[in-house]
Amino acid sequence: MYICPLFYPNAMMYYSQIKGLGFYVPENVVTNADLEKLMDTSNEWIIERSGIQERRFFTEGKDTVATMAVEATKMALKNANLEAQDIDFIIFATLSPDFNFPGSGVLVQRSLPFREIGALDVRAQCSGFIYALSIADQYIKSGMYKNILVIGSEVQSNILELSNRNRNFAVLFGDGAGAAVVQATQDPNHSILSTHLHSQGQYAEDLFLEHPGSRLKDRMSPQIIEEGKHLPFMQGQAVFKHAVVRFPEVIREALQANGYAESDLDLLVPHQANLRITKYIQQVMNMPDEKVVSNIQKYGNTTAASIPIALTEAWQEGRVRSGDLICLAAFGSGFTWASALIRW
Ligand SMILES: CC(C)(COP(=O)(O)OP(=O)(O)OC[C@H]1O[C@@H](n2cnc3c(N)ncnc32)[C@H](O)[C@@H]1OP(=O)(O)O)[C@@H](O)C(=O)NCCC(=O)NCCS
Repeated sequence: MYICPLFYPNAMMYYSQIKGLGFYVPENVVTNADLEKLMDTSNEWIIERSGIQERRFFTEGKDTVATMAVEATKMALKNANLEAQDIDFIIFATLSPDFNFPGSGVLVQRSLPFREIGALDVRAQCSGFIYALSIADQYIKSGMYKNILVIGSEVQSNILELSNRNRNFAVLFGDGAGAAVVQATQDPNHSILSTHLHSQGQYAEDLFLEHPGSRLKDRMSPQIIEEGKHLPFMQGQAVFKHAVVRFPEVIREALQANGYAESDLDLLVPHQANLRITKYIQQVMNMPDEKVVSNIQKYGNTTAASIPIALTEAWQEGRVRSGDLICLAAFGSGFTWASALIRW
């Protein structure tokens, strides 16, 4: 039963805290030089346009979206000092699930000694982790759950055609997984302060993977493959133009909602879309490199996994300190964009 604190002033108020973080990336490193051998591209072009030097590609038979998520989960549980049995709910963000159905959350549920808890898949692409975090935050604030596992995991290398016709897309993306254990706390001074979610579906086809989908009687055909419509499509310049507006907008929205100025921010963890986009955000928001996490150089764009991977690495490097004001921000296919402001 929901207890409205307005009418019951002594009712417990719950807030959400990120209690543990973890990540996993496949061991197979693919450098720009490797891609040069497969398509008409160059190390210089990729670095200049995206900042990416290398990315990880999964190994078939070893890594799946679910198995990578499980590895990230084990690290997050360990860092949270919790066991799988302690988790009340799984939220799994991915655009590349192991199966068309069921979702990947249940594959994580069966892989570790979880109870028979709910498992929800979220499809908000590059914004997926923040959408999932926002859902977790609401369940915790409502008092329904105490510990929620939030995952972002992607295998994208097998939807990249490493050829000239897909090269603007193929050089940008990689595989990996990240996870966070979100826990109920009564301490508002160390909690998620707010989350902000947006979408603008009129641009759905500017960054999408059309086939196989459910609109055609024959979900796949030789013609679809011939025309390359089984490959992801991106209007690169349109994505870039919207991203550089939406990122600062949604970061400022989070700050203003909580009465903070840009200068109050200790760390920004943006979705690792493209280093040029991140540098642009830094420029318009006057944020030095020390206050911004960038690891796209090593992993490329890992979509829903990019924020939890970046946040975990920043935490491991001691860049996430108790009391810090931290903003997570994302933009991607949909278009969707989102932010979360956290007092760590
Ligand atoms: C994709 C992106 C890097 C392309 O950069 P761009 O400056 O817009 O490049 P264009 O698409 O205009 O192409 C410029 C030229 O490079 C070529 N090109 C495209 N991909 C290439 C590659 N991998 N290697 C070498 N050349 C390439 C194009 O064919 C074009 O050649 P032309 O001038 O002879 O026609 C850029 O648009 C971008 O970063 N967009 C945002 C992507 C993103 O962040 N997506 C994820 C969002 S979550």
